[in-house]
Amino acid sequence: MKTILCIGAGYVGGPTMAMIAKKCPGYKITVADINPARIAAWQSEELPIYEPGLLELVKECRGKNLFFSTDVAAGIREADIIFVSVNTPTKTFGEGAGMAADLQYWEKVAREILANSDRDKIVVEKSTLPVRTAEAIARILNVPGSKVRFEILSNPEFLAEGTAIEDLEKPDRVLIGGNQTTEAGRRAVEELVAVYAHWVPRERILTTNVWSSELSKLVANAFLAQRISSVNSISALAEATEADVEEVARAIGMDSRIGPKFLRASVGFGGSCFQKDILNLVYICRHYGLHEVADYWHSVVKINDYQKSRFVGRILASMFNTIVGKRIAVFGFAFKANTGDTRETPAIAVCRKLLEERAALVVTDPAALPNAKKDLADFADRVAFEPDPYKAAAGAHALVFVTEWPQYQKLDFQRLYDSMAKPAFLFDGRNFLDHEKLFEIGFDVHPIGKPSLEHK
Ligand code: UDX
Ligand code: ADP
Repeated sequence: MKTILCIGAGYVGGPTMAMIAKKCPGYKITVADINPARIAAWQSEELPIYEPGLLELVKECRGKNLFFSTDVAAGIREADIIFVSVNTPTKTFGEGAGMAADLQYWEKVAREILANSDRDKIVVEKSTLPVRTAEAIARILNVPGSKVRFEILSNPEFLAEGTAIEDLEKPDRVLIGGNQTTEAGRRAVEELVAVYAHWVPRERILTTNVWSSELSKLVANAFLAQRISSVNSISALAEATEADVEEVARAIGMDSRIGPKFLRASVGFGGSCFQKDILNLVYICRHYGLHEVADYWHSVVKINDYQKSRFVGRILASMFNTIVGKRIAVFGFAFKANTGDTRETPAIAVCRKLLEERAALVVTDPAALPNAKKDLADFADRVAFEPDPYKAAAGAHALVFVTEWPQYQKLDFQRLYDSMAKPAFLFDGRNFLDHEKLFEIGFDVHPIGKPSLEHK
C-alpha cells in the first residue's frame, strides 16, 4: 500500500486528500497539521471548513484509508509522497511586505521533512508559491552528500471554494510540474500522474516543467480576476451613463472568443487566492525589472479596491450623505456563497468604511459569522452579529447585500421592508435579487452597474 501524507489540513489539503482517498482505495492517506483544534474538527461531525458535500465524502473514507493527525514527524517517516499545503499568505513585514508570499511556514515544513526522512521521497507543492521557490525548497531538501533524494513536484490546485468537491471530481485539468530532464524526475511525475489517473482522464493530466506549473497557477488566477475587474470597471461607466452592465456582459459573453463565465459585476472579488496571487505576480515582475508588466497586473487589484470603495460611496450618496448612527444590515460576509471563508472578502472593506462613517452595523451570514467576528474584532462594540436575517433587518435604514447566498433570494422581502426605517434602502452588491419586485414593495434599490430604482 502506497502512503501519502499531506501537511496542512486547510481548504486545499482537506478536500483534496478526501477525494484522493475516495478514488484511490489502495493508498493510505494521512492529513497532518500543527493545529490540534483543526485536526480534532476533521475527526468530528463539525468539519473546520464549510463546503457542500465534504462531510459525506470525509465520512466515507475516514478511518478506512483517510486519517487526520497532529504528528507531522511520524507522518513524514512513513510517507512515500508528501503533499505540502500550508499557508503562504502575503508578507506583512520587511522586504516585499504587502506583495511577496510569506514562505516561513513552507521553509519550516521543508526542514521538518528533511529531519524525519531516511529514504527517498516525493514532495509535492500544493499551495501557491511564487515562481522558482521549488528551487529553494529543493536546495534545503537535497543537501550535498545526503543519501536521501527528494523529487520536488508542483501540482497546483484549481478548486474553487463552494464547488470544491465537484471541481476535484471533474477537474478541467490536473497540472503536474516536475524535472523532466532526469530519469528520477520523470518517474516522480509518473507516480503522481498514476494517483490522478484513478479518476481523471489521462488527456486532462498535463505535465510541464516545475516553473511553468507554478506560474500557470498565478496566471490562471490573474486572468480570472482580470475578467472581474474588467467588467467591474465597466459597471462604473454603466452607472454614470445609464447603460446596464448585465446587458453588456451578456452581449460580449456571447462572443465565443470571450465566453460567458466570470463576467458577473460585483462589489469586488475576494478569497484567499486572487489578490494574493496577482500581488505575487506583480512582485516577481518587479524583481525582473518588468515594471510595465507589473503595473498592468497591479491595476487589476486597484480596480478591485476602487470597486469596494465605490460601492460604499454609492451607499453614502444615496442615504443623504450621512449614515452616522444609522442601523445598516450587512447581508452576507463570506467572500462568495456556500463557504464560511472570509479571507479578503469585500465585506471587510465595506464594513470598515461604513464603520468609519459611524454607521451602527449588524452583520448576518449563514456560515461566516465566527470568522466575521474575528475580522471586525477591533470594532467589537459597534457591530452586532445576528444569524437571523429578519432580526438583523429590524429597524435598519438599509440592507447591504455583499454575498450572493441563494437563500437570500427566497427571503420574505415584504416582511423585511415592514420592519425597517423609511425610506428603506437596499444595495445589491451581487445583482442577484429581483430589483423590480423589491421596488414595488417600496425599497429604493441600488444595484451594481445599472440605474437605481428610487421612489423620488
Ligand atoms: C479561485 C479560482 O477560481 C480557483 O481556480 C483557485 O484555485 C482559487 O481561487 P475561489 O477564490 O474559491 O477560487 O473562488 P471564485 O469562485 O474564483 O471567486 C473569487 C471571487 O470572485 C469571489 O469573491 C466571487 O464572488 C468573485 N466573482 C466571481 C465575481 O465577483 N464575479 C464573477 O463573475 C465571478
Ligand atoms: P489553504 O487555503 O491554502 O488550504 P489554510 O490556511 O486553510 O490554507 O491551511 C493551511 C494549514 O496549514 C493550516 O491549518 C495550518 O495550521 C497548517 N500549517 C501551517 N504550518 C504548518 C506546519 N509547519 N506543519 C503542519 N501544518 C502547518
